[in-house]
Amino acid sequence: MLTFENVSQHYGSFRALHGVTLNAKEGELVVLLGANGAGKSTIFLTASGLPKATGGSIRFRNQELVGMKPSQIVQQGIVHCPEGRKLFPQMSVLKNLMLGAYVHRRDRAGNQKMLDEVFKLFPILAERREQAAGSLSGGQQQMVAIGRAMMGRPKALLLDEPSLGLAPLVVKQVFEVIQRINRAGTTVLLAEQNAYAALKIAHRAYVIEGGRIVLEGDPASLMNDQAVRKAYIGA
Ligand SMILES: Nc1ncnc2c1ncn2[C@@H]1O[C@H](COP(=O)(O)OP(=O)(O)OP(=O)(O)O)[C@@H](O)[C@H]1O
Ligand SMILES: [Mg+2]
Repeated sequence: MLTFENVSQHYGSFRALHGVTLNAKEGELVVLLGANGAGKSTIFLTASGLPKATGGSIRFRNQELVGMKPSQIVQQGIVHCPEGRKLFPQMSVLKNLMLGAYVHRRDRAGNQKMLDEVFKLFPILAERREQAAGSLSGGQQQMVAIGRAMMGRPKALLLDEPSLGLAPLVVKQVFEVIQRINRAGTTVLLAEQNAYAALKIAHRAYVIEGGRIVLEGDPASLMNDQAVRKAYIGA
């Protein structure tokens, strides 16, 4: 449903993506593994249209995304949950969540329904809805970031390092929710350095190095791959 073909990206004269080809099928949970600077975030940013790909094609259900405005891409159902959460810390949890519904702002009933679903996924956010987002714990802030993305009604959800800076128990909770979102029908692309936790919930995974896909496979075979273990699992 979401297909990258030979996608390139440049920051000035620096080439960050060298012809990336990958895909996520309808309903899949696909993990992108890679060290710092490998190009994971650049892949998601490029899919979201900011910055626009400098080469290649990104198709969603056979529609070309390269060249669409970022807001049109969200409207198609490609929703990005950025690395580092990017919340507005002074604003309430509720206001942060509603920002994700901006492209659907005319559909109040639909947004209320989505908000109820987000509160079902994250009951703690319902309790804290009037609290400033910046006063929440790291794990709760990550829940707000995922909830805000859900308010955009993703068909394909691009999650960039949701486990960053979280304690192992919280990582486990966040990954359980990601799995629930996926099982309810949303296709998920998950960029992670936490290879072990990510591979446990993935259907398929890619390994990225220096802006190139260097490996693709099912989670079990990647988990057993010596090079993957050495680089990302530490065993
Ligand atoms: N705005 C930018 N301007 C210039 N170079 C950039 C910019 N953003 C990223 N890069 C470079 O592009 C490469 C890929 O970066 P990217 O952020 O996509 O990696 P990543 O895999 O997400 O890393 P991390 O795990 O640290 O988040 C890196 O070499 C990085 O320094
Ligand atoms: Mg990144």
